[in-house]
Amino acid sequence: MRNQLKSWQRLEEHQREMVGADMRDMFAADGGRAQAFSLEWGDIVCDFSRNIVDATTMKLLLELARECRLQQRIEEMFSGVPVNVTEGRAALHTALRCRDKLAVITVDGVDVMPQVRATLEQMRGLVNALRSGTWRGHSGAPINTVVNIGIGGSDLGPRLVTRALEHCMGAGAVRTEFVSTIDPVALQRLLARLDPATTLFIISSKSFTTRETMLNAAAARAWLCSAMGEAAVARHFVAVSANCEAVAEFGISADNRFAMWDWVGGRYSLWSAIGLPIAIAHGMEVFDQLLDGAYAMDCHFRTASLEQNMPVLLALIGVWYNNFFYRDSYALLIYDNALRLLPDWLQQLDMESNGKSCTCSGHGIGYPTAPVVWGHIGIEGQHAFYQRLHQSPVFVPCDFICAASVGDNHYPQQQRFLLANCLAQAEALLKGRDGATVRSELRAAGMDETKIAALLPHRIFSGNRPSNTIIYNKLTPHTLGALLALYEHRTFVQGVIWDVNSFDQWGVELGKQLAGTIDMELSGEQISGHDPSTTALLRRCIDWQQG
Ligand code: F6P
Repeated sequence: MRNQLKSWQRLEEHQREMVGADMRDMFAADGGRAQAFSLEWGDIVCDFSRNIVDATTMKLLLELARECRLQQRIEEMFSGVPVNVTEGRAALHTALRCRDKLAVITVDGVDVMPQVRATLEQMRGLVNALRSGTWRGHSGAPINTVVNIGIGGSDLGPRLVTRALEHCMGAGAVRTEFVSTIDPVALQRLLARLDPATTLFIISSKSFTTRETMLNAAAARAWLCSAMGEAAVARHFVAVSANCEAVAEFGISADNRFAMWDWVGGRYSLWSAIGLPIAIAHGMEVFDQLLDGAYAMDCHFRTASLEQNMPVLLALIGVWYNNFFYRDSYALLIYDNALRLLPDWLQQLDMESNGKSCTCSGHGIGYPTAPVVWGHIGIEGQHAFYQRLHQSPVFVPCDFICAASVGDNHYPQQQRFLLANCLAQAEALLKGRDGATVRSELRAAGMDETKIAALLPHRIFSGNRPSNTIIYNKLTPHTLGALLALYEHRTFVQGVIWDVNSFDQWGVELGKQLAGTIDMELSGEQISGHDPSTTALLRRCIDWQQG
């Protein structure tokens, strides 16, 4: 068990020394702290200096990484070892963006790279045909809208990137829409706005069995066929899936199926043909640049020393708060509207990967794993939930994320103010505001002493609250690819430290099974076998439905 390791126990002792440490004193004592605790790679700067860590903390965290054989585990993941032990699968999302033309990466003795390259070429064909208008719908009209039907990893990644790069959108762009929820209103509202003759659906599902996706796909198919007939399916549906039979059964030909493989986890799949909406919206060159950026981060992660390794350091600092300060929440504070969907994507990535309570070898874990990942556009959060970040008794570790500059920005003043706020909030968390400062400010404003005494405790900010700050120059496709790969690797490193399998998700199964049973009971089957609360609620719903 990891908490029996020497480094873990030394970290526990060290935390008791650090619990009273004040970052402000550490900055005062060490003029080089900001530089010593930050890394610059490509056009990304990651500042870790505003954390409750000192050189000993980092040394011990790195020792923990070594004791967990992190470097060996990284190599295993990259080289196709079945690191997903419960399913006996490799986790080769890195092969999807491997840009080394000579690379050979084998799974069960077969090199996967030719399949990866062939799928990229197949994507290129569809993307170019759609964007140039040569792909025609059944009636001969060009396609102007593509609807991605998928959920979880088959939705969040492509949706995030497609929206994040909207500022790169060039001529010939096809509109992209995303449907993930099974709530009938979402699909209904969307279809009401669309013309079947000019709409193409991508059914994105690795398994092609996910109920939500399949129900939405069937509804979209019925909508199309009622307007244009069965024969239209061939020109208006494509699929991304590993399940060839189910795709064929749905009526999509092999030519219009884009491969997925069991060695790619759903939440790591935006780099595969699951990323089709990105390429359709922005062009294949942009998709290539995204892959280039992720590959560059992969090379950094694989070859940099642990001390200089951005994903490793980000991950270890997260472990420090999660396992030694017992902070079970982690916030992403986004100061770049393009990345507004990043928290949703990271939530699945991190919580589905590491929210586990048994080790890779099946033993119970006696320490917390994945904290709750949440986040929002920071500037909006400042007027909503930041109160808690600044003044609740419990600090929340957070990452501030911001662009230093943006491309063709018509509102430079707004961009400047955004950056100013990002830097200011991180500074405010660190510095706080003490009683003496508050008192003198209130005196200067003419407040009488009785009122000052009453107000003082409310106006104090304790400060000394940790955060990472990640700033990049501009959100290019390359930078975005690198940034997402950074977080993927952060998740993997934490999984290694916690000794969990970051690539399975058994915890999603039970709810799916129960939903299937309840669905049948809602349609008339006898209710049985539930807890009393579920039974009572089910009966109430059925009564209401029957009017
Ligand atoms: O239910 C969870 C999950 O399996 C995710 O891991 C996955 O990203 C999502 O559902 C969608 O799965 P699929 O691509 O097979 O439809």
